This record gives sequence, structure tokens and C-alpha cells, in this order.
Amino acid sequence: MKVGIIGSGVVAQALGAGFLKHGHEVALVARRERRLLERAEEIAAAGRPRPTVLSVDLERPGAVSLLAAELNARDLEPANVVNNAGFGLVGQAARLDRNEQLAMIDLNVRALTELSLSFVDSLARHRGGILNVASLAAFLPGPGMAVYYASKAYVLSFSEALHHELAPLGVRVTALCPGPVATEFQARAGLQRDNMRILALPADRVARIAYRAFMRGDRVVVAGIGNRIVAFLLRLMPHTLVLSLADQGGRSVPRKS
Ligand SMILES: NC(=O)c1ccc[n+]([C@@H]2O[C@H](COP(=O)([O-])OP(=O)(O)OC[C@H]3O[C@@H](n4cnc5c(N)ncnc54)[C@H](OP(=O)(O)O)[C@@H]3O)[C@@H](O)[C@H]2O)c1
Repeated sequence: MKVGIIGSGVVAQALGAGFLKHGHEVALVARRERRLLERAEEIAAAGRPRPTVLSVDLERPGAVSLLAAELNARDLEPANVVNNAGFGLVGQAARLDRNEQLAMIDLNVRALTELSLSFVDSLARHRGGILNVASLAAFLPGPGMAVYYASKAYVLSFSEALHHELAPLGVRVTALCPGPVATEFQARAGLQRDNMRILALPADRVARIAYRAFMRGDRVVVAGIGNRIVAFLLRLMPHTLVLSLADQGGRSVPRKS
């Protein structure tokens, strides 16, 4: 049986709702199993097929092989993969915990890459695809969240190239670039102030835009007109200006005047 693999955050839940509404069955993947089971129960109670729940820590080496084996054991073939799991950290890279920053790369970059590459044959058989959640952060360097912004630049670059490579197989690849969305992301990152609040969109709106773009086969989708304008302007601005506008946390060494 074919299935879509989806994470469990607020954005993923909204995306999952879109897939379910259009008749897809889904597998929910994250670490907190109880939350996944509750979500699966709500979906089943609403009359949709009960999602498969897979509690996996994607930061761990071997997690994607484990996930593939679990799907195989249940006779489930991925038709679509939504890579949503990810987190950010606010602070200067030289001062933040190094292991936590490397764990961010493990999740935002390594696990996303492995999940994107592991099921290509199955995705091609089902004429499905990969929806990778990048960010508006993918379009600029982000002092004060340096590793996070760099990880999202990777997601955008990788997804665009994969879009091109997998097109002949009939596999769609879309990079979703949302601006701010109110979720657990802000608390996990330690974001105190959100300078970009004006660009915020609700998760269900972002998910609707993303689902449509993914089904159309778009390479990149920036959610919302305000965010599209920002992404466009960022390409035209000198990097020195972009760096000071994006600065979340000041410098570690004061500049000499
Ligand atoms: N919210 C925003 O403003 C915003 C803007 C642009 C881009 N994004 C991107 O959107 C994506 C999701 O963010 P969100 O806003 O939906 O945040 P969220 O609500 O914090 O969701 C993140 C999800 O990832 C799961 N996760 C975290 N670590 C994991 C791990 N090691 N293994 C497996 N699953 C893990 C979490 O579940 P468990 O903790 O149970 O594992 C959670 O369900 C991220 O890639 C983020 O970069 C968010």
C-alpha cells in the first residue's frame, strides 16, 4: 500500500491534513510517540484512514534505515515524502553549544538528504514526490542564527538540483520557503523578539499554498505575497546590508571605530 511520510509539527499537521483531504494515507514521523498517537486518533475519528505512527529520532545515525525497515515490515511504500522536521537556535555560532548546532545539521541537512534519496524508486513508481521545508532564511546568511540559515540554504539548493535530476523519473521535488509561522519552532530556537512578525502566516494557509505548488510540480514556493517580495528584494540587495538587517544577536567581538 502506498503512503505519504510526514513529520508532526504544526506545519506538518496542516500539510498532512491537505494530503488526507485528497485521499492519501499518511505515516506520521517524530520523536514524541504519544502526540503522534493522539493525532492519529483525531484523524481516524474524523473518518479518515488511521495514520501509521512511527516514533523515530531522525538526528540519530541509522534512523532513516530504521524507518525504511518499519515501513517495509508494514508493507507500506512511500509515494510522497514531506521533510518538515527541523529546528533553529538563536545565538552566536561561536558561543552556542557546538553539539546542539551539529545536531541541527544532522536533522535539517543529513536526515533530510537521506530521506530525500532513500525512496526514489518507490516515489517514481507512484508518480509522487518530495516536499522539503526550507525557509525564507534560505535566501540570506543569518548572523545570530548562522547554522540554521546555512542549513536552510542547503535545503533550497539541494531541493532545486534534485527537482532537475528527478524530473525525468516523474518525481516532483518542491522546496517550501515559509516566512514566520507561529509554532513550537520559536520557543525551541529561543527567539525572544520576532522582527519579521509582519510576514507571519497561519500554518494552514502555508500548507494550502505548499500542497497546491507541490501538486503542480513547482520547484520552489515562497508562501505569501509579502514573503515573495522579501525573497525578491534580498536577491537585489548588497550582502553587507543583508547581513546587518538579518542580524539576530549582535557580534561576538565589538568593531573598532
Ligand atoms: N515556524 C516557523 O516560523 C518556520 C519558518 C520557516 C521554516 N520553518 C521550518 O518548518 C519546519 C518545521 O517547523 P514547525 O514550525 O512546524 O516547528 P515545530 O512545530 O517545532 O515542528 C518540528 C517537528 O519536528 C519534529 N522533530 C524535531 N526533532 C526531531 C527529531 N530529532 N526526529 C524526528 N522529528 C523531530 C518535532 O517533533 P518531536 O519533537 O516530537 O520529535 C516537531 O513535530 C522546520 O524545518 C523549520 O525550519 C519554520
